[in-house]
Amino acid sequence: MRILVTGGAGFIGSHFVKRMLRSGHDVVVLDKLTYSGNRANLPADVELQHGDIAQPDDVARAAAGCEAIVNFAAETHVDRSILSAEDFGRTEFRGTQVLLEHLRATGIRLVQVSTDEVYGDLEAGGSSTETDALHPSSPYSAAKSAGDLLVPAYARTFDVNASITRGSNTYGPNQYPEKFIPLFATNALDGEPLPLYGDGRQIRDWLFVEDHCAGIELVLHEGGPGAIYNVGGGDEHENIDVAGRIIELAGADRSLLRRVPDRPGHDRRYSLDTSKLQSLGWSPKKSFEDGLRETVEWYRDNRTWWEPIKSGEYREYYERQYAARLADSTAV
Ligand code: NAD
Ligand code: TYD
Repeated sequence: MRILVTGGAGFIGSHFVKRMLRSGHDVVVLDKLTYSGNRANLPADVELQHGDIAQPDDVARAAAGCEAIVNFAAETHVDRSILSAEDFGRTEFRGTQVLLEHLRATGIRLVQVSTDEVYGDLEAGGSSTETDALHPSSPYSAAKSAGDLLVPAYARTFDVNASITRGSNTYGPNQYPEKFIPLFATNALDGEPLPLYGDGRQIRDWLFVEDHCAGIELVLHEGGPGAIYNVGGGDEHENIDVAGRIIELAGADRSLLRRVPDRPGHDRRYSLDTSKLQSLGWSPKKSFEDGLRETVEWYRDNRTWWEPIKSGEYREYYERQYAARLADSTAV
């Protein structure tokens, strides 16, 4: 199969590209190479086209000869969507629509990679199922929800062959160090403060990147048109406990952990019911303890990957996001 992987130079997309190559598929990547897109995430011989999923010509050029598209392209960080939401709407909604219009014209298949955050806060307990209503809390999750809503609508109206996956919080090697685990791991390794939002008792359902990619691969082959599949690790942990374990694994001092003012609109808890995907034969293989240890080790051994990232644009973002918060921080 020849597959177009959009957003394939990012964190999860690049792992998915390598997985598809191992499965013997032919892959082309279309990526806008935003701040989180990185050529170095991909094997040197992978065809990478620099372009935008919201541009029909870029999509038509990259998708020529492909039987399927797997769409990872997105603006992906909640905190950045709070600072400025502009690009989120364009890529998540308009970009998804351009891909669906391409399906209408060509009849090829699409897997839209989405997130558990579209279901919103589950503080009261329980787990989200695929038929639950969407209650996004952040500009990021609202933009992802808008893209998601197009998929079953196009499947019903135009009979396009598209499915959605909704993954839980994903971690592993090559994740841009703005998200919680890589930010805390690299800061701990550098002896920098770890900014814990609010009381740190928020819960995320952690999923190792290879398990996430395995779920997406299965949906690519087995998913039904217009159907949605949750992909969750089933490993729920409070942020404060994850932070403590990262500090231990990095051999850092616990005094680095700083309580900072909370994120506006912060969801307390996500949790996914994954029985639908499990009935197709998928289950997560990596325990959080093993995955977290391997991930912190990877960041310790691959400074050449993340040290160049933590300069330039990243520094500017970090200052905007954390300088005032850290000035206002207290001991945990
Ligand atoms: P990432 O930020 O590492 O990668 C996103 C990639 O998309 C980058 O390579 C970027 O350059 C590219 N991109 C952005 N806008 C584009 C555009 N308009 N056209 C083409 N390329 C564009 O993000 P990630 O963590 O790998 O996330 C990938 C997908 O998985 C996203 O759709 C995200 O919503 C979803 N997801 C992520 C997580 C998570 O915990 N990281 C969990 C569930 C779902
Ligand atoms: P994040 O990795 O941004 O994922 P999401 O908000 O999309 O789930 O954050 C994961 C959790 O970690 C979330 O509850 C917010 C928290 N967090 C912090 O406490 N400090 C930080 O600096 C960051 C980036 C996140």
